[in-house]
Amino acid sequence: MRVPVIAGNWKMYKTTEEAVSFLRAFLPLVADAKGVEIILAPPFTAISTVAELVRGSGVRVSSQNVHFAEEGAYTGEVSIRMLRDAGASHCIIGHSERRQYYAETDDSVNRKNRSVLAAGLTPIFCLGETLEQREAGNTFDVVETQLFGGLKDISAAEGPKVIVAYEPVWAIGTGKTATPEQAQDVHSFLRNRLKKLWGEASDSVRILYGGSVKPENIVSLMAKEDIDGALVGGACLAADSFAKIVKYK
Ligand code: PGA
Repeated sequence: MRVPVIAGNWKMYKTTEEAVSFLRAFLPLVADAKGVEIILAPPFTAISTVAELVRGSGVRVSSQNVHFAEEGAYTGEVSIRMLRDAGASHCIIGHSERRQYYAETDDSVNRKNRSVLAAGLTPIFCLGETLEQREAGNTFDVVETQLFGGLKDISAAEGPKVIVAYEPVWAIGTGKTATPEQAQDVHSFLRNRLKKLWGEASDSVRILYGGSVKPENIVSLMAKEDIDGALVGGACLAADSFAKIVKYK
């Protein structure tokens, strides 16, 4: 049984004060949510405040990026040890905005996935095709390359801890959600590829869908066999809409 995960990525939104008012509204709304793992990914500056406030609630905290090195002269970067120190247990890795604007590659994503796993944190490893790639009929090739590239040299013993997030780039922040059938097609393909990589151990890997998830479409997405949760951007910024997504059941 795969426990569903609903993760909210705040991207570059919310000061600590705004984070506090979000949590004041959000935590009571999800206090009775059962059978779902809730993860919030604030910007670095709000991680420790959020971690402090969610303590005891079951809500987990993620970063939106991390550096793969243990420490060093990397101006502007944040290490895994610093994230753990601030209270994060998860890291979003390889989000398409980082691939697009910050030169993230399958190789850097792989180094980050490996370092995060080795340190005992959980990667939320993102992949997905662009509109051009989909229209050219290359979706499966693209996601397979990203999947195998990002998970290179990760064993069946530790790999299944990774949370995979399939996020078609054309559906992110555009209001265009993939249909549940389109998402399911890619999710079942990814599950099949994971099986090739890790055998039976891959059955426990959670594969999230991301891209314009809202309270209105979460139920039909979650009804699909291989969709184990959601990575939510825009609709996680307001407490009531994110709580509705968390409590989709
Ligand atoms: P969106 O973003 O829900 O605003 O489309 C999803 C994401 O980038 O993870």
